[in-house]
Amino acid sequence: MITPLPHWYLLGAGNMGTLAAWYLTRAGHTVTVIKAGSPASLEKTLLLPEGKSVTLTIPVVAPEAIPASIDYLLVAVKTPYSRAALAPLNTRLHDASQVIRLQNGLGALDGLLPDNLTVLEAVSTSAVKGQHPHHQIVAENHTWIGGKANPPAWLAALQAHWPNLQWADDIHTPQWQKLMANAVINPLTAIYDVPNGQIVDDPELRKRAEEICTEADHVLQALDPAWPAASLENVLAVARATAGNTSSMRADRQRGAITEIDAINGWIVKQANRLGLEVPENQAVMDALKR
Ligand code: PAF
Repeated sequence: MITPLPHWYLLGAGNMGTLAAWYLTRAGHTVTVIKAGSPASLEKTLLLPEGKSVTLTIPVVAPEAIPASIDYLLVAVKTPYSRAALAPLNTRLHDASQVIRLQNGLGALDGLLPDNLTVLEAVSTSAVKGQHPHHQIVAENHTWIGGKANPPAWLAALQAHWPNLQWADDIHTPQWQKLMANAVINPLTAIYDVPNGQIVDDPELRKRAEEICTEADHVLQALDPAWPAASLENVLAVARATAGNTSSMRADRQRGAITEIDAINGWIVKQANRLGLEVPENQAVMDALKR
């Protein structure tokens, strides 16, 4: 028997959500965006790394018109909007629904989904810039997907269309590595309104980067003694590799949007408080961005 390919409901058609929709549709999956007050479809222009431009049409459904049961959900909405985005979906998800979280930070969906549901976590180091309806794929790096489940049946075929997509039995290593890059680069570039490379080049930012990193590594090591707690080199390498880029948090701040600080440094501060650890630099950037 041939199993039909998934029909995904997508929350969040920003840069990463659009990238995922592009790869999924290339693999023959179908994608519908859940969005209030929108037209029947979103027309996206994607500039591919090789310079070619493609148009992607993603059908839209309003939250009140979503079907009674959802089998496949991709959550790519910015973390502060998770609660509002998921509210209409809770009764439509069932024990066998497959949910993928493709978001920065950690903990943004805690308590927002039915208890028995297995959430797969996706972590991507690919870079996309722009704003609806124009998105430019800057770099197709790695995407890991994993969680407390077996690899889904559709994954192997999707890998032919989603560059560098791989299953991770241990998703928390790539997740924490990305968290560290986000915890250092995002708040500092947003507060100082500078491109990522300044983390390496400006002595004041570099010093603050080291402090944030040391504190956060310490928290992660308290959570998992196997964590190497030596993230600075990796974080600086990400800042160097993306030196001219504007981080997502700087971009959010520049357009006056709420940032993802709660799911990034906020998550670290929350863990530190629980463990009785001091994280003054993480607390300071969080306070600065909440003001
Ligand atoms: O959030 C971002 O902008 C990126 O993930 C990061 C870590 C700054 C690397 O470009």
